[in-house]
Amino acid sequence: MNNLQNKENLTILAIESSCDETACAILRDGEILGECISTQIEIHRLYGGVVPEIASRNHVLSIDAVVKDAVNKAKITLNDVDIIAVTKGAGLLGSLLVGVSYAKGLAFALNKPIIGINHIRGHIAANYIEHPDLQTPYVGLIVSGGHSAVALVKSKTHLEIKGTTADDACGEAFDKVARVLGLPYPGGPEIEKLAKSGNPIIPMPHVKMKNPLDFSYSGLKTAVINYVHNAEQKGVEINKADLACSFQKAAVEMLADHAIELALSENINIIAIAGGVAANGALRDTLTLKAAPHNIKVYYPSKRLCTDNASMIASEAYVQIRSGAEFSDLTLDARATLSLVTDC
Ligand code: KG4
Ligand code: ZN
Repeated sequence: MNNLQNKENLTILAIESSCDETACAILRDGEILGECISTQIEIHRLYGGVVPEIASRNHVLSIDAVVKDAVNKAKITLNDVDIIAVTKGAGLLGSLLVGVSYAKGLAFALNKPIIGINHIRGHIAANYIEHPDLQTPYVGLIVSGGHSAVALVKSKTHLEIKGTTADDACGEAFDKVARVLGLPYPGGPEIEKLAKSGNPIIPMPHVKMKNPLDFSYSGLKTAVINYVHNAEQKGVEINKADLACSFQKAAVEMLADHAIELALSENINIIAIAGGVAANGALRDTLTLKAAPHNIKVYYPSKRLCTDNASMIASEAYVQIRSGAEFSDLTLDARATLSLVTDC
């Protein structure tokens, strides 16, 4: 029980700073009033990936302006906010600490409550912003730079992981393959773009796991690396678009197949995708196409809500508050790792 559980016009100001996006959003009863994202992608591109220390410093530089911009866009004042929500983990510790410290300062200054939010749960909750009709139970396919999991979402606050990755996360594999192909960071959108002009004609390995719902991306990634090295040694030119397309097809088919398998075994006819990789058009299309014959409906957030943003953090805070979750207090700390199941 919390004192906002039944409040009308519940207004949440959320802050997200777990990786290389500094973001703030204001949601009222689950609807976006205003949001602002400052991305550091161009800065980290110089290094081929996120440099944690540089990320934290840039969060410090931009967070105040980002929050002010979101509040202005929402056409509210800070006094209209009922609660401050902030990503408490998982993510880069230094980056998370910037958001958590700023949020605590704001909560203290405004004398408002604060609630720490699990970033990956936020990715899942991004679906609720645009799809109020999305009903539990459903199968959740969670695919980001650090997570690949297929879960049975029994209610908005209770899920069970049924399959997870044995090695690399799916987004991580996209990023690593992109680097081998000489594409800039972040690799996922670059692979997707390049794959559009290629054909999936290069054979890729099909991994069989002990738990058929588990994933493995390291074999797929290694197959691409070996293909490139072999061609280099032989002095043969590779068709990068075909390679990107073949990798992407194998990667998204594994995701789609596992999600459908779980849905069928649980007799569930809804799948929702979440996380940065959910922005991938091939994944959305493949899953929708494969799910249709089984009368399974597929949900995904719009692309800008798939990658890191603060609206998803506010959306998860809304779920938590309405379900009666306890608030945090000013001892709230950032955590680099969190359990998707137990750390709400
Ligand atoms: O969820 P996210 O923004 O950050 C984490 O919480 O990890 O996910 C980032 C990951 C990166 O690996 C990025 O390459 C991947 O999502 N990604 C994509 C696409 N857009 C982002 N992967 C494939 N296709 C995309 N269009
Ligand atoms: Zn994320």
